[in-house]
Amino acid sequence: MNTTDQQATPAQDSQQAHPTWEKAAPGQHARDPRAVAFAQDFPERPIPAAGPVSTAPISTSPSVGLEELWAAIVPESRTRSNDIHLPTSTAYAQRLCDAYPQADRELVLATIILHDTGWAHVDESRIISEGFQGDWRKAAIRYEHEAKGCLVARRVLPGLGYDEEFIERVCEIIDGHDTRQVAFSLEDALVRDADRLWRFDITGVCVSSSWFGMDPATYTDRLDREILPELITGAAVQMARTDLARTRGLLRTEVLR
Ligand SMILES: [Fe+2]
Ligand SMILES: [Fe+2]
Repeated sequence: MNTTDQQATPAQDSQQAHPTWEKAAPGQHARDPRAVAFAQDFPERPIPAAGPVSTAPISTSPSVGLEELWAAIVPESRTRSNDIHLPTSTAYAQRLCDAYPQADRELVLATIILHDTGWAHVDESRIISEGFQGDWRKAAIRYEHEAKGCLVARRVLPGLGYDEEFIERVCEIIDGHDTRQVAFSLEDALVRDADRLWRFDITGVCVSSSWFGMDPATYTDRLDREILPELITGAAVQMARTDLARTRGLLRTEVLR
């Protein structure tokens, strides 16, 4: 493990040279035994919910608990609107765990809190220039923020009492959460869906439409066309559709376009 990365502040870390992160060949992950096993365990897509599904506005059910973990990542919350994205996505993750009670709730919640902390340890000037333009899903900076997020997890989780096996499972989900096209487990799938769901709420549309340089109406069209079909679970699809209709109504996107 890289001791410098473990101890660096976000500002110090972003000044370090950028190594070349290893990229998987296209299709490689779909053949990964973990992806194959997950697809066999959950053949019906989107995966039907086993528990209650809430589609109420997400502001009515903030996430609860894990205060020590939140306190540990305050420095990382200041980059790329993580202080909005992480708590909102965590509230969605909490709802998804209610809908899929067979998932490891603590793993899902700890991972969603940590998943984008790596943005605080990459060159901030490259986040918008590379991370949201052109072929943004394959941008080198996306691989970097995943790898750096794993370093944050490895730095903060041991002191909070999490064992090595748990930390490995957290890092397995963080590593590839944006760049790997397939999920390896139900917990991985719930983190992926929670990471996307926040965009459908009014706050997510306001924040991320500006990242992509789009007006809100065009952005909600993109959510409908590109992001909604990527959702893995039926509960997330229900939530996204309801949020999208609510957000479009509030912003009058049928007129303001
Ligand atoms: Fe990410
Ligand atoms: Fe994210």
